[in-house]
Amino acid sequence: ELARPGRRVGRELVCLDTVDSTNNEVKRRAVDQIPDGLAVVAGAQTGGRGRRGRSFVSPEGKGLYLSVLLRPEGTLETVSALTAWSAVAVCDAVEQLCGVRPGIKWPNDVILDGRKLCGILTELELEAETAALRYVVVGIGINLSQEAADFGPEVAPVAISLAQALGRAPRRAEMASALLDALDRLYADFPGAWQHWLERYRSDCLTVGRQVRLLRASGEEEAFAEAVDDDFALVVRRPDGTREHICSGEVSVRGL
Ligand code: BTN
Repeated sequence: ELARPGRRVGRELVCLDTVDSTNNEVKRRAVDQIPDGLAVVAGAQTGGRGRRGRSFVSPEGKGLYLSVLLRPEGTLETVSALTAWSAVAVCDAVEQLCGVRPGIKWPNDVILDGRKLCGILTELELEAETAALRYVVVGIGINLSQEAADFGPEVAPVAISLAQALGRAPRRAEMASALLDALDRLYADFPGAWQHWLERYRSDCLTVGRQVRLLRASGEEEAFAEAVDDDFALVVRRPDGTREHICSGEVSVRGL
């Protein structure tokens, strides 16, 4: 275990060789006395989890698998901002270490060369009686040195690692440290500097200004992504001119 004095995010940093999922490990440790900022990093995950119940393949030593325990002030609505802003923090860390700035596919996939470099899974724990927010776990997976074979045939066409994109990848510890610093800056601002981070999110977001395909249980639909509103909903315009504000989780967006 390492300590990072003067920091909130990652003030306590637990490094494990292998774990089922760093999100699970944070939840196991998140008893009430543990202050926010606890971070867990693992060399490999045997049950890495993605959004929408998907698994997140996490081969040994190839990626950064990191989760942070946060106890933000504010309501449940602020949590989608925390996730979106975390994607901006990932962009900051990659830019700082690699000199290229990725973009964000709404709501929070980090994209390089049109493919997914990083995914974020945020999970909430609510108070049983009051339904107040107990804590948030922000789990971040960044592809560092995977090759196509590591992703497998289904994921390889849509995923990318820093090594694939740039011919080199920072070491895991370097990336962890840059990312924790970026998350610490974000969290120090949260939720106060809302407008600043919303603008940063909007400028990184690649989805706006593009044609997207919306996938829902009821079927598939084409629309034009016009904007991200102040609640992080994607504003889309249908071919018939009607508009809709889509919340993350409601639909899956194909295309950037
Ligand atoms: C997604 O793209 O669907 C989200 C992927 C999130 C993966 C990270 S890796 C660290 C943390 N632990 C997990 O089990 N998942 C997240």
